Amino acid sequence: MRFIIATRNAHKLEEIKEILGFQGLEVYSARDFPDVPETIEDRDTFEGNAIKKAQELCDATGIASLADDSGLEVDALGGAPGVYSARYAGEMCSDSENNAKLLRELDGKEDRRARFRTVLALARPNEEPLTVEGVCEGTLLNELRGECGFGYDPLFVPEGFTETFAELSAEEKNKISHRALALAQASKHWKMVLKG
Ligand code: IMP
Repeated sequence: MRFIIATRNAHKLEEIKEILGFQGLEVYSARDFPDVPETIEDRDTFEGNAIKKAQELCDATGIASLADDSGLEVDALGGAPGVYSARYAGEMCSDSENNAKLLRELDGKEDRRARFRTVLALARPNEEPLTVEGVCEGTLLNELRGECGFGYDPLFVPEGFTETFAELSAEEKNKISHRALALAQASKHWKMVLKG
């Protein structure tokens, strides 16, 4: 049985392959199907975007497809940046511009609670799409700390830790991250589907 992971990001691809195993399956990535146009992520939920990405790839190829969508939800900002996490400070903006905007928006706000959320969607020919979710709760600092990771990592302190995601090693982050938790759910609930 064949299977596509709807990402062009080599790091994500390896993480997904490693956790899900895919024994007996032929696993491809979106890069193996350059003629399929990239999905426009215009839904207002992570679930909507993840399903859209997985379903479009499955419809175009006839092959079961897995997609993810993630972001940061900040309580004091009514859940923003949410699905706009990558482009919070504008289209094509950098991580540091996003972090600077987040700090500006949070200026003077006492409630620093936030969470990273990942939704994974699995689309198969002639079946309803399936989804699982992973959430990592935490708080946001007033200043950047740490050099590892990407995105909002230098501002986010996961619950039960004193370090930011950017101060933890990749190995430590991968044990508790929203993506790792979503993948753990997928491996638990989609065992039968992910077997060759
Ligand atoms: P994606 O859906 O995984 O591409 O994530 C969308 C955006 O959410 C990223 O561009 C980051 O801004 C943010 N984000 C997602 N996961 C993380 C993370 O683990 N650390 C920091 N930022 C993240």
